[in-house]
Amino acid sequence: MANAMPGSQKSVVLLGGGSTLARAMAMRFAEKGFALVLADLDTAELEVIAQDLRVRYGQSCRALHFDALDYGSHGDFAAECAKALGETPGGVVVCFGVTPVQEDAQKDFSVAHHCLDVNYTGAMSVLEHFATLFETRGSGFIAAVSSVAGDRGRQSNYIYGAAKAALSVYLCGLQNRLFKRGVYVTTIKPGFMDTKMTWGMDLPARLLTDPEQAAGIAVQAILKGRGEAYVPGYWRLIMLIIRHIPGMVFKRLSL
Ligand SMILES: NC(=O)c1ccc[n+]([C@@H]2O[C@H](COP(=O)([O-])OP(=O)(O)OC[C@H]3O[C@@H](n4cnc5c(N)ncnc54)[C@H](OP(=O)(O)O)[C@@H]3O)[C@@H](O)[C@H]2O)c1
Repeated sequence: MANAMPGSQKSVVLLGGGSTLARAMAMRFAEKGFALVLADLDTAELEVIAQDLRVRYGQSCRALHFDALDYGSHGDFAAECAKALGETPGGVVVCFGVTPVQEDAQKDFSVAHHCLDVNYTGAMSVLEHFATLFETRGSGFIAAVSSVAGDRGRQSNYIYGAAKAALSVYLCGLQNRLFKRGVYVTTIKPGFMDTKMTWGMDLPARLLTDPEQAAGIAVQAILKGRGEAYVPGYWRLIMLIIRHIPGMVFKRLSL
């Protein structure tokens, strides 16, 4: 029997719900009739976003506190989401993340450690709880925002890239585990987006994507049950080229 399409049950939890990308994704989900839970560190700010979504789209939208680093709370958090929605969520999307300045992470292990803890360990910890709930039910969708930075280590951001590479490999394994159990898993790989994370960074303007556009691509990929989505799609080609540069050449480049 074919899996129920992601989104057949219209409720979703956005982790890192205050991120620029998650806010844009929340609007896309709300306009498609999804009830939402937005979860992040700053619940006061989230409550303002939730109120706006309720008024604009007439959908239920709850703001919950969530800390990716508080691993011990993640099981209870998944149960709290089900209580807030009145049902086990239809899906969950990890949007939280941190990008340290590469030089800071090289010099100070605590910065590198925090990057790995939030981007990888926190995501893995919370998703395992949702994975078990969805696996037991036999439907649902799981997505996480990884990055093209995880496709090949580059000197400009390899510590962040290593955390995102771990996340991408984790999601690939989760997909392999859960597809047969009726659960879809999507890895979202954006290039550069114009968000508060990249504020003040010296990035090529031509390659900077508007978060509204990125959110549209990401939500569409999730609801179509795609395994992976580069955002925008041309990053697939860029990263294909970068991945295939021979090691002898690659190590001499300043990327
Ligand atoms: N912007 C880009 O160019 C780009 C490119 C590729 C991938 N990405 C990824 O896209 C995702 C969304 O990023 P964005 O660009 O929209 O960045 P953003 O606006 O800076 O959002 C990052 C979010 O993560 C939250 N967060 C940080 N630490 C957390 C923790 N311990 N627990 C819970 N939440 C935590 C932040 O909350 P506070 O604000 O309260 O700290 C913030 O809401 C991230 O995973 C990022 O790595 C971004």
